[in-house]
Amino acid sequence: MSLITQTPEWKALEQHARVMRERHLRELFAADPKRFESLSRCELNLLFDFSRQRVTTETIQLLIALAEACDLRARIDAMFNGEKINSTEGRAVLHTALRNRSDRPVFVDGKDVMPEVKATLEKMRNFVEGVHSGRIHGHTGKTFTDVVNIGIGGSDLGIVMATEALANYRNRNIRLHCVSNIDGVQLADTLEKIDPARTLFVVCSKTFTTLETMTNARIARQWVVDRLGDGAPARHFAAVSTNSAAMDAFLIPPQNRFTMWDWVGGRYSVWSAVGLSVALAIGMDQFELMLQGGYEMDEHFRTAPFHKNLPVLMGLLGVWNRNFLGMDSLAVLPYDQRLHRFPAYLQQLEMESNGKGVTLEGTPVEYDTCGVIWGEPGSNAQHSFFQLLHQGTARVALDFLAPVNGSSPYQEQQNLALANCFAQAQAFAFGQDTDEVRADLVEKGLDEAEVARLTPHKLHPGNRPSTVILFPRLGPKTLGRLIALYEHKVLVQSVIWGINAFDQWGVELGKKLASSLAP
Ligand code: F6P
Repeated sequence: MSLITQTPEWKALEQHARVMRERHLRELFAADPKRFESLSRCELNLLFDFSRQRVTTETIQLLIALAEACDLRARIDAMFNGEKINSTEGRAVLHTALRNRSDRPVFVDGKDVMPEVKATLEKMRNFVEGVHSGRIHGHTGKTFTDVVNIGIGGSDLGIVMATEALANYRNRNIRLHCVSNIDGVQLADTLEKIDPARTLFVVCSKTFTTLETMTNARIARQWVVDRLGDGAPARHFAAVSTNSAAMDAFLIPPQNRFTMWDWVGGRYSVWSAVGLSVALAIGMDQFELMLQGGYEMDEHFRTAPFHKNLPVLMGLLGVWNRNFLGMDSLAVLPYDQRLHRFPAYLQQLEMESNGKGVTLEGTPVEYDTCGVIWGEPGSNAQHSFFQLLHQGTARVALDFLAPVNGSSPYQEQQNLALANCFAQAQAFAFGQDTDEVRADLVEKGLDEAEVARLTPHKLHPGNRPSTVILFPRLGPKTLGRLIALYEHKVLVQSVIWGINAFDQWGVELGKKLASSLAP
């Protein structure tokens, strides 16, 4: 795979890129009035408009040829079929099994994992409904009003992102708090706000060994013991993990334990029992709708031809921007405040997955892999860092995400958000050239010297590539589709780059050094 750059398909793209680098989006739009029709897709109620990417239909054909040369279809099938594609850990990669809503079995080492997946979902439902109805309650008999999720990375980011995104669907009797950092600030702030008799802690950790999580969990446990007595934690703590011995040691009773499996990567785990806190916050029915949305994207990814396949197109456009147009980063800009943690969620998903420097065979890559992912909700971003995007020297590609119907009752405000989103996409694509700037200044009555002095400062070069993703409304199904879209994009890119998207050895050294320095 390290020889991908030597293939005719890669070389054809390099050749094509030499031409495309010289072309401006203004020119591309002028040359093809049907550009939107040929460079947008509508699938699963997502309008995926990539007409403002610096591509033509020929670029897409060449990228698809590259995907075929990398045997992408076979790699997609290998993932869905439970092959051990996480080769450095010898593990299958089956977050798709967690949201498999069909009757299709999914085998790992010859065993169908679906009965266990379904049993865990049933156990989650029973627990969530028990907490909501008051059947499951605290040590003193009081119902739970607060849930504190203690976890970090994949055991935190998806939970925070999804419950914020789906805040409109929240159970009004439950407040969710998330504690992740080691420094104690979030824990202290949370403990100050809650009543121990009415609080359920969910310790969420795939390994149940993570320093941050275990430290926060131990302190929280002692806090409960100090206020409610030794017997209380058994009712006030639930846990999600693959590590049953560690849950034993933490005295989590069997009815409060939720299992997950080593074939679920942490950053892909919000679909598993790691989503327990999400389900507690929004209810199991809504949680299962999110699974349904993920499943629909899986079916699309598994079966749609590449030219219609949203994750494939998204992944390939990312490769084009990164490897052929030299983009350093991708800014994700949601025009819905409810998605304010979506960029942070994607940071772990993409950068922990594809931030790799060696191929599957262990040889150093000769090309760029994952760039930096970052972002903020659109309007706020416009008033902070968009200056750099419009006129600075950084090379940044953009993803705009927006619901047509807003998440607030004030649709006229969402209409303004949309106007801003489209205005920005247009400004980034077309910019403002010398003639336009001059005409503007002359119309304002400035003299020639002043016009000449100000013109260079007011130029907007444009030609900044972006994709706009529109959807009718942000709900659990749509969120499930969006998360799965980006997850599969990651797989697509890892296949092109020939890297393992499912290990994360790069986080180990710091952990080891911290534990040796802590004493
Ligand atoms: O340090 C990185 C990491 O291993 C992530 O991959 C993971 O999501 C996070 O730590 C938390 O791990 P755990 O769920 O085992 O506590």
